[in-house]
Amino acid sequence: MNNVRPESMKRIDNPQLAEAFIAEQVEQIQKQVADKKVLLALSGGVDSSVVAALLIKAIGKQLVCVHVNHGLLRKGEPEQVVEVFRNQMDANLIYVDAVDRFLDKLAGVAEPEKKRKNIGAEFIRVFEEEARKLEGIEFLAQGTIYPDIIESDGVKAHHNVGGLPEDMQFELVEPLKFLYKDEVRVVGKALGLPDGMVYRQPFPGPGLGVRCLGAITRDRLVAVRESDAILREEFAKNGLEGKVWQYFTAVPDFKSVGIKDGKRTFAYPVIIRAVNTVDAMTATVEEVPYELLKHITDRITTEVEGVNRVLYDLTPKPSGTIEWE
Ligand code: XMP
Repeated sequence: MNNVRPESMKRIDNPQLAEAFIAEQVEQIQKQVADKKVLLALSGGVDSSVVAALLIKAIGKQLVCVHVNHGLLRKGEPEQVVEVFRNQMDANLIYVDAVDRFLDKLAGVAEPEKKRKNIGAEFIRVFEEEARKLEGIEFLAQGTIYPDIIESDGVKAHHNVGGLPEDMQFELVEPLKFLYKDEVRVVGKALGLPDGMVYRQPFPGPGLGVRCLGAITRDRLVAVRESDAILREEFAKNGLEGKVWQYFTAVPDFKSVGIKDGKRTFAYPVIIRAVNTVDAMTATVEEVPYELLKHITDRITTEVEGVNRVLYDLTPKPSGTIEWE
């Protein structure tokens, strides 16, 4: 299969070029798929969302989207997938609540790479189960983009056909495979996806799972999700959204002593991380205004249950990585 971007392909950097790309892909997809059905694992990330919107435009309900809620998504994300794709775009969307299943599988697993492996393997299992319930699927759509091909020989392999059993081989539909991330965003915008979906910061596949440090527990997972939501809200309000490359919170698996309403507490800290980078290989720390950090600290320590301290990570990459695990 040809995996080299054609030299003649223009950089898609404006709505007109995006419209032309969309028209061309719609035609190609219709030709490839004809009247058959296509399956897509729709995480709600930029790439899978743009693929979904493009396929909905091309083949409507012949596309079957499966959204697996593994409990490790950010606050409001599963709801947004249902709202945008089922309610607004009238997509054929299967929503799978697999939260308990994932958390049971991850209980007691503390080693970062083992956590990642378990999340990836369980994802394939859930997706496979859903795929087996469906009839007449011949194609699998994927949000592969050009950097996935040139940098790592298919980063998304853990979510794709490679992980499915022999008897479930589908023909691939990969309409974004020659696009760079910025081009995917221009196309997503032209397809009418909300800005919050198109311009979102990078989010790791294993999601909040690698930010709930050590063995994941439900209480700390809630603390990561709620503190992350506060951080994102405050960054958006204060003009840092879109300026800072990646920002999030992490919750370690130890407690410290604190005090609240005159009573001793023994609770978790929340770590704030906000970094800038070009290629994620090295990163510098964003100098978040001190007043804002104090305000976020106040909000997190009063609004998030089980948290009594907030720390700000001042470590560039190297020596730290961007994520904590
Ligand atoms: P690190 O922590 O290695 O992260 O400095 C670099 C970038 O990669 C993201 N990241 C991941 N993305 N699956 C992903 O899809 C993963 O397992 C994973 N680990 C880290 C991280 O968020 C940062 O943008």
